[in-house]
Amino acid sequence: MKVAVYSTKPYDQAFLQRANKTHRHALSYFDVRLISATAPLARGHQAVCAFVNDDLGRDTLEVLSDEGVRIVALRAAGFNNVDLAAAAEQDMTVARVPSYSPHAVAEHALALILTLNRKLYRAYNRVREGNFSLDGLLGFDLCGKTVGVIGTGKIGTVFARIMAGLGCRVLAYDPAPNPDVDKLASYVPLEELFLASDIVSLHCPLTPDTYHVINDDALARMKRGVMLINTSRGRVVDTQAIIRGLKQGKIGYLGLDVYEEEADLFFEDLSCRMIQDDVFSRLLTFPNVVITGHQGFFTKEALSAIAEVTLSNITEFEAGRGPLHEVTQNQANPTATCAPSALPGLLPDRIRGDIPAP
Ligand code: NAI
Repeated sequence: MKVAVYSTKPYDQAFLQRANKTHRHALSYFDVRLISATAPLARGHQAVCAFVNDDLGRDTLEVLSDEGVRIVALRAAGFNNVDLAAAAEQDMTVARVPSYSPHAVAEHALALILTLNRKLYRAYNRVREGNFSLDGLLGFDLCGKTVGVIGTGKIGTVFARIMAGLGCRVLAYDPAPNPDVDKLASYVPLEELFLASDIVSLHCPLTPDTYHVINDDALARMKRGVMLINTSRGRVVDTQAIIRGLKQGKIGYLGLDVYEEEADLFFEDLSCRMIQDDVFSRLLTFPNVVITGHQGFFTKEALSAIAEVTLSNITEFEAGRGPLHEVTQNQANPTATCAPSALPGLLPDRIRGDIPAP
């Protein structure tokens, strides 16, 4: 099948080329993001392969449909950037990679926790400058601390296991509790998790229910000096509220792998340009904030699995069997009902072709 691959980086090409030795699709690589203006590039292709910050809102899907595209194969787990109702109207199939390596993201959350706690970002620079002072580097033992896990699906479960293994007391909140997590953690109401946790880590999808779940009210309930970790989706957190929380000392440590307006920043080398996003720039001024650019998924194992499952979805669709992992509006997963326009802050005029989502 002819596949237009959007938002392609050299590492995507390398892993897709390797996986395609068996699938033998005709892959055209575009480094631009998929938005309605770039959708005509897909002319002559029956499939598009899209990533987390591509905009698969109604406008884009209508153009893709006119160009003859029949399947959208996401090389990601999250699909909050797809208007599933519009895709269904266009009779367009949507597929994703539901699980590629929950370990990659869970371990990245741990990396953020350890980096913030032991201030490795400061220690690294100090030692390179010949400054061996320990002032300002004081950390705390993770063993014995209470960790709140919001969302105990594939990633949250691995994360809960890691933290339990470090000797932490793990609390969890999920509207659909996971029996495997019962053995490692106690499910509690969200309010109780906020009150008791030294560390709060987000592993839920972006849905209307989770949009800005971390807001001023949530922060007011948390312990003073709490560590907040977000490797899920940027819009699960109200960034203005967390800036207020940082300024007041309510948040003692902040680790982000995702950001509300990341589509204008992440995955690009902007080191020679001025960052125009003042909110993001403000976050960078705090000494107790570590931000990574949506790299939680970025391991060899995960990229291999993403490439293989993405191409398998297309292969199965082409063979008339339907993709292995189709996303439908009726899917039990709550994100399935979450067309971009259903989310506050994701209304079409704000989407600008840059909704975040692996
Ligand atoms: P999953 O679908 O296995 O688990 C999500 C869990 O969240 C489910 O158990 C679900 O019941 C729960 N949930 C739904 N609504 C909730 C709510 N209101 N409050 C609390 N929990 C709720 O998904 P998986 O694979 O564990 O991924 C979780 C999220 O991590 C993805 O949706 C995506 O946003 C993010 N992600 C980030 C990556 C990164 O590179 N930083 C890579 C992959 C995923």
